[in-house]
Amino acid sequence: MITALAEDRTGLPEAKFTGTRSTAESRMIDVARLAKVYLTRTKKVWAVRDATFAVRRGEFVSLVGPSGCGKSTILNMIASFLAPTDGEIRVNGKLVKEGVIPEGLGYIFQKDTVLPWYTVRSNIGLGLWYRGMPTRKIDEKVESLLQLAGLQGYGDVFPHQLSGGMRQRVALLMTLACEPQIVLLDEPFGALDTHTKVLLHRELLELWGKLGQTIVMVTHDLDEAVSLSDRVIVLSSPPSHVILDHRVDISRPRDVFTIRETEAFAEHSQIIWRVLGREFKHTDMISEIVAQ
Ligand SMILES: Nc1ncnc2c1ncn2[C@@H]1O[C@H](COP(=O)(O)OP(=O)(O)O)[C@@H](O)[C@H]1O
Ligand SMILES: [Mg+2]
Repeated sequence: MITALAEDRTGLPEAKFTGTRSTAESRMIDVARLAKVYLTRTKKVWAVRDATFAVRRGEFVSLVGPSGCGKSTILNMIASFLAPTDGEIRVNGKLVKEGVIPEGLGYIFQKDTVLPWYTVRSNIGLGLWYRGMPTRKIDEKVESLLQLAGLQGYGDVFPHQLSGGMRQRVALLMTLACEPQIVLLDEPFGALDTHTKVLLHRELLELWGKLGQTIVMVTHDLDEAVSLSDRVIVLSSPPSHVILDHRVDISRPRDVFTIRETEAFAEHSQIIWRVLGREFKHTDMISEIVAQ
């Protein structure tokens, strides 16, 4: 099924929509005609021009697009760290205001954000401690999370004693400990080798299967996007808009290892790559022009 996403007021090519339309009630995140211009001392950087998309409750959506097209900027606006220049964002029906983090929202960055001077246990429990949860309850919760992520026995070690993949797993648990309804992930596995990455994919899907959060993940890895997501949203080169909203209708539960061998996986990847690859090429042409 391919239909136009929305009326196109920009004169740009219309986004193609192959996803599931959300009703107002089922929408957890609503991004409408979003724009962001950064003002630096010397110039204006027009990062996002016109981004519109919605994410349903419990859905796993990935955002992909050329480098610099405003993926992190969009996540930062959803999290309220940045104000949009134009357009609006609603989370759970409420308008997002700059500096007011939407209720139930958790954020995971590419670089693991664990604190080196705390043990794994203290890192994971930190958010709960800030919220005033009694120590005994924190201990119970942390222990069950450690088990869930296969980290039992690692509670009392320090982050520098862990591998990069394990540290990122701890960062994931730090965020999940506070039971966010919505999780924003900004290239969370970008710095990891393929083996560690796919192991973490399996864990993320297992945790998501049990906890059912709404997830928006930025990634530059198309295979990662296809194997994990319900939908993949492709952004154009900057200033960006949505050029493809594609539903990955591969059944769940998914095996992150064997899914990559399937025909369905190849088909979805091709459909997205056809659009994304063209955009990469275009962005490259822009940088060549700038470099002249
Ligand atoms: N604080 C800032 N000030 C000025 N320009 C910025 C700032 N943050 C990001 N940009 C620019 O905005 C564009 C989009 O950035 P970003 O959202 O990080 O892209 P992506 O995550 O897709 O790679 C880039 O051109 C980047 O250089
Ligand atoms: Mg980024």
